[in-house]
Amino acid sequence: MTVTASNYARAANDLYQTEPWATEVLLRHFPVCRDDVVWEPAAGAHLMADVIRDYGAFVVTSDIEVYTKGHHFIWDFIDGPADQLLPQPHAIITNPPYGKQNRLAVRFAELALERCDGMVALLLTAKFDFGKTRRHLFQNNPRFMAKIALLDRISWAGNGETGTEDHAWYVWGPGTYAVAHMLWGAK
Ligand SMILES: C[S@@+](CC[C@H](N)C(=O)[O-])C[C@H]1O[C@@H](n2cnc3c(N)ncnc32)[C@H](O)[C@@H]1O
Repeated sequence: MTVTASNYARAANDLYQTEPWATEVLLRHFPVCRDDVVWEPAAGAHLMADVIRDYGAFVVTSDIEVYTKGHHFIWDFIDGPADQLLPQPHAIITNPPYGKQNRLAVRFAELALERCDGMVALLLTAKFDFGKTRRHLFQNNPRFMAKIALLDRISWAGNGETGTEDHAWYVWGPGTYAVAHMLWGAK
């Protein structure tokens, strides 16, 4: 999650937790199956992982830090040793740390696509795909499949106070998609 030019201090490790409805929007459009192994590699306190599990998938969690729930493994998704990688999950779904100018988010997207031949779904800022330097993820990426604009804003504070920024799900598939779809979702 991004806190834009403002006086807000960023949360340590970019820990902004995703309200369950936002993950449900993704899963309504792109359901998971009972046999699916989904990797949540920036799992935080498992708000997203728990929803994916409730929808039927087997969810493997990792993060650089433990908050309230233990993960399957502690792992730095950007700099962690490659020999500890989860072998090809069916999907990677997460709300990654964004970092300055979204640099961490871009790296997460690149690495997630390398590490998963199936579906990759990332919750990012609504204009994340506008960057000219991100064409390799969207315009020039045959796997890019869909963008789901969230019509409601997520409360990152977890207190119902609505955030100030719009977000969207970006979804890449296993194959080649001639047309990327624009979808909309709300609570
Ligand atoms: C925006 S929070 C999202 C948490 C959770 N996915 C959710 O949606 O509720 C980002 C998470 O990324 C983790 N994180 C930050 N840098 C990371 C890295 N290099 N590798 C793995 N996880 C990282 C943080 O600890 C934090 O839990």
